[in-house]
Amino acid sequence: MDKLIIKGPTKLKGEVAISASKNATLPILAATLLFPEKIEFKNLPGLSDIKFFMQILESLGAGIEDLKSVDCTSVNKTYADYDLVRKMRASILVLGPLLSRFGEAVVSLPGGCAIGSRPVDIHLTGMEALGAEIILEKGYVKAKADRLKGAKIDLDFPSVGATENLMMAAVWAEGETLISNAAREPEIEDLANFLKEFGCDIQGAGTSRITIKGRDFKSYKPAKEIKYSIIGDRIEAATYIIAGLMTDSHIKVTHFHPEHIKAVIDVLIKMGAKLETHDNAIEVFPSGKLNGTKIDTAPFPGFPTDVQAQLMALMGISNGLSFVRENIFENRFMHVPELVRMGMDIELEASAAIIEGQTNLSPAPVMCTDLRASAALILAALVTAGESEINRIYHLDRGYENLCGKLKDLGANIERVKA
Ligand code: EPZ
Repeated sequence: MDKLIIKGPTKLKGEVAISASKNATLPILAATLLFPEKIEFKNLPGLSDIKFFMQILESLGAGIEDLKSVDCTSVNKTYADYDLVRKMRASILVLGPLLSRFGEAVVSLPGGCAIGSRPVDIHLTGMEALGAEIILEKGYVKAKADRLKGAKIDLDFPSVGATENLMMAAVWAEGETLISNAAREPEIEDLANFLKEFGCDIQGAGTSRITIKGRDFKSYKPAKEIKYSIIGDRIEAATYIIAGLMTDSHIKVTHFHPEHIKAVIDVLIKMGAKLETHDNAIEVFPSGKLNGTKIDTAPFPGFPTDVQAQLMALMGISNGLSFVRENIFENRFMHVPELVRMGMDIELEASAAIIEGQTNLSPAPVMCTDLRASAALILAALVTAGESEINRIYHLDRGYENLCGKLKDLGANIERVKA
């Protein structure tokens, strides 16, 4: 397993181009199962999760060209194997499209993961509302329906994945589907924009009420040639903006929509950050030591849980006290013990963390536990005097394209070595 060696403290300089969003790409790749035609993509990110999801599509009979195109014309399987699904919980997103197009699907229940149990009950209740018969057997979801019927579905929680799965299931259902209390994340809007390329009539994506007018799959005519471009990864962008602030640098983070991380920008400015917003970029200016603050993670447009760990790293070197309450996942503080090993003063109480800003961190070998926690460790290492060793960086490869190269181009002293 590879590890990263980072020599700090470091200053960063220049521009970093953000890659396409992992969390927009995954549901869009699942949605290709709905359409019997070849679909090209302009900017799929080179992430292990994306390459893995394309293997899942291939296992269902799709033709794929690595990170370039998917052709689901010849998809002939509706069974997603445990061995595949257990490695990535987003695989559950094949359930909706398979059920909608083929009237059946057998998908392994995703295991939990480091940040929580992450059940799929909201997905399954919604599929039943659309008329599917759902049986849970031997760790698999077995779903069947002659043809799904449009329905009014009110989500117990604005689950991102459930909203996406149900939008896709509704595409070939008979009649109109209304999803209320829907998730409002930008990735939902990107999925809707992708589906509209194929003539889908979807209204309200990005709001909490989404309607989808179902169509008859038998009357589907292949769309014009589709070459789709995915939105920039707002979480990756937030990570680099925080890297610029922690290292007191002047950098420009480009190729994403700043309004997709308004809640993050608002918090950073409140802490004293000097930021300038451009059309598709945020420019970070040296801002000195920032002031601690308090955040609650929440569904969009609230503060994103996926930036919680990275912000905590910044809070760990800011003035005074900060407070973080994690309201989305039950176990998303795995980065805390590792940050404490690097000298940060963080105490945990149930779903809250109290951070006392520190001036000096100390280099230590640390371990990645989940994707965003890993990013927090990198950020801390960039400002720590000495050589830090970050282990188990396969977590990072899931969601940060060419992280080492991008940080090196910005001036960081970082090397990826075989452990
Ligand atoms: C998506 O996960 C993202 N993943 C996550 O990003 C992100 O943290 C999360 O949304 C919240 O924004 C992808 O888009 C691939 P949820 P998802 O369904 O869809 C509970 C990253 O780092 N819940 O909105 O799984 C669930 O347990 C990843 O890129 C149910 O109880 O998130 C969690 O506590 C991590 N029942 C909460 O809702 C359900 O049926 C939010 O889950 C579904 C969810």
